[in-house]
Amino acid sequence: MGYAETYRRSIESPEDFWAEAAAAIDWDSAWERVLDDSQAPLYRWFSGARLNTCYNALDRHIEQGRGDQPALIYDSPVTATKAELSYSELRDRVARLAGGLKALGVAQGDRVILYMPMIPEAVIGMLACARIGAIHSVVFGGFAARELATRIDDARPKVILSASCGIEVNRVIPYKPLLDEAIRSAAFPPAHCVILARPEAASDLKDGRDLDWLELEAESEPADCVPVAATDPLYILYTSGTTGMPKGVVRDHGGHAVALAWSMKHVYGVEPGEVFWAASDVGWVVGHSYIVYGPLIHGCTTVLYEGKPVGTPDAGAFWRVIAEYGVSVMFTAPTAFRAIKRDDPRGEFIGRYDLSQLRALFLAGERCDPDTLNWASEKLQIPVIDHWWQTETGWPIAANCLGIEQLPVKPGSPTRAVPGYDVRVLAEDGQEVPDGEIGSIMIRLPLPPGTLPTLWGNDQRYIDAYLSAQPGWYLTGDAGYRDEDGYLWIMSRIDDIINTAGHRLSTGAMEEVLASHQDVAEAAVIGAHDDLKGELPVGLVVLKSGVDRPEDEIKAELVQMVRDKIGPVAAFKKVAIVDRLPKTRSGKVLRATMRKIADGKDYTVPATIDDPVILDEVTDALRSIGYGKG
Ligand code: COA
Ligand code: AMP
Repeated sequence: MGYAETYRRSIESPEDFWAEAAAAIDWDSAWERVLDDSQAPLYRWFSGARLNTCYNALDRHIEQGRGDQPALIYDSPVTATKAELSYSELRDRVARLAGGLKALGVAQGDRVILYMPMIPEAVIGMLACARIGAIHSVVFGGFAARELATRIDDARPKVILSASCGIEVNRVIPYKPLLDEAIRSAAFPPAHCVILARPEAASDLKDGRDLDWLELEAESEPADCVPVAATDPLYILYTSGTTGMPKGVVRDHGGHAVALAWSMKHVYGVEPGEVFWAASDVGWVVGHSYIVYGPLIHGCTTVLYEGKPVGTPDAGAFWRVIAEYGVSVMFTAPTAFRAIKRDDPRGEFIGRYDLSQLRALFLAGERCDPDTLNWASEKLQIPVIDHWWQTETGWPIAANCLGIEQLPVKPGSPTRAVPGYDVRVLAEDGQEVPDGEIGSIMIRLPLPPGTLPTLWGNDQRYIDAYLSAQPGWYLTGDAGYRDEDGYLWIMSRIDDIINTAGHRLSTGAMEEVLASHQDVAEAAVIGAHDDLKGELPVGLVVLKSGVDRPEDEIKAELVQMVRDKIGPVAAFKKVAIVDRLPKTRSGKVLRATMRKIADGKDYTVPATIDDPVILDEVTDALRSIGYGKG
């Protein structure tokens, strides 16, 4: 069956479609309803069914003869380490850690936060939670203590799993001090922390609270898989919203397992037994879905790479990994390819490795500029597929589904809606706009399995943020259009979210940090174009009257504050001081206009502007830090 027919079936008969897909999963008991719409607009998939996600990711493959197949390949150029864990070895370590968590009092439904670098224990920790029905929440290592504390207070974990350090190229980043600081400032501290001691950094273990990871594993009895409801939460993953309070995206067990298994075969075109590599981080949704759960549920070998596309040691790093492990399908963010292209524009490293097993490259996480896509396709001579999704959906909304039918590539478009997603472009009045016209990209409810059923502990915030713009529709937050061939073009966000090196960041959260500086009266943060990272945050601040300290000193403090409060991943390095911010007469800051000025684009002075002269001041201030024309 080709794309058109598969897509039509998924939209016209979603229950039949997903019930069929559910055959790829082992269930402990069958569902009562494939789609439960009794609480619409909150939908649930496979209600009444029971399963265990860890069983589906590990044990069943061992029972089916994959025990000796590598499940996880760990490749860490930053520590010069390579290791392989077979399905049996991974299951045994997961079962022991799960037993250790149980011994610490973690039961089904309890939360466990992971603050981990890219080491096998991160995967072991996630799967150990899934094994006993605990809910994990992974916090990306590039976030600062305050961000971790916010997540601790929202998730209220019983235990935190962490490591003594992360390693950024050649810089050791001690995690324990960050963890201790976060716990000190949290209102709901965990009962225990389990710390993996890495040789690169020691960490002080606090008596009675902290335990050594490997000792806990060694001393614990293996735990069995606990069947849970398909609709129970498997994990919470916090993602940037428009304020400093991140949104706790919830993922369920049943729909998630079904959707990921389906996507591995039909979107990525991968077969069980093959090596699949997502060069991302377990702290992001890509890491959850396509480093951990997708490949393992599908019986693939997954690669966990602790390194960068360049600098560890060179722009050939990705090709080495692909050749060394026989990767068939790879997934990363366009920014990684921009970094490689910058260091090796002629692609000379590519020729030094045998990449004959690599069938396709998938890119996502940010808009993929045609130059990058064309460069990658030309150099690799394989399909390079831009696909579009978000933390909330957990798997692609639009893609060229290689496992169904390869459609022609249009660089700049992530191709067409993936089966299961009824994607439309709507105007403000809720009417569909004609093909080619830009509007708000929305998905008709119900969303397919695997997408977020709600936000953690906050159904109302879920409804308000995503389901209220147009009743019956999910608001993606992206604007764009559909062309006459049904291809989607994702152009920009409609909110204050920016995308820096494939990382989703809230400019609102950065504004809150800047505004908390003693000398700052008002602040705005915009995303300005960057050739490597796509977008970079740029701050514009107005100082309180009477402040006469050197501006450079204040700017340096502001940069440091964002780094300390949000984290290095925000890459906030540019700030300009202005007398006033441009605003409409009703007081709305004109961020879109400032953004155009920063990018050196032509703009029209908004009719509602309070005082157009301010735009000249902003232009000068942005020019002084390297942005704008001239
Ligand atoms: N722990 C601590 N610090 C971290 C971190 C982590 N896990 N991850 C990143 N950081 C730090 C970096 O060291 C850097 O700090 P610096 O300001 O002192 O240099 C900062 O956060 C920004 O990191 P990053 O965005 O990774 O930029 P970079 O300049 O180090 O590398 C790229 C640039 C393009 C090579 C890199 O962003 C990359 O590989 N991107 C791939 C994108 C990706 O994986 N996206 C995930 C979604 S698919
Ligand atoms: P995240 O939740 O971090 O995965 O970020 C999701 C957001 O990244 C989307 O809402 C888009 O704005 C952007 N995004 C992800 N993939 C693409 C893509 N292929 N093309 C354009 N934008 C993308």
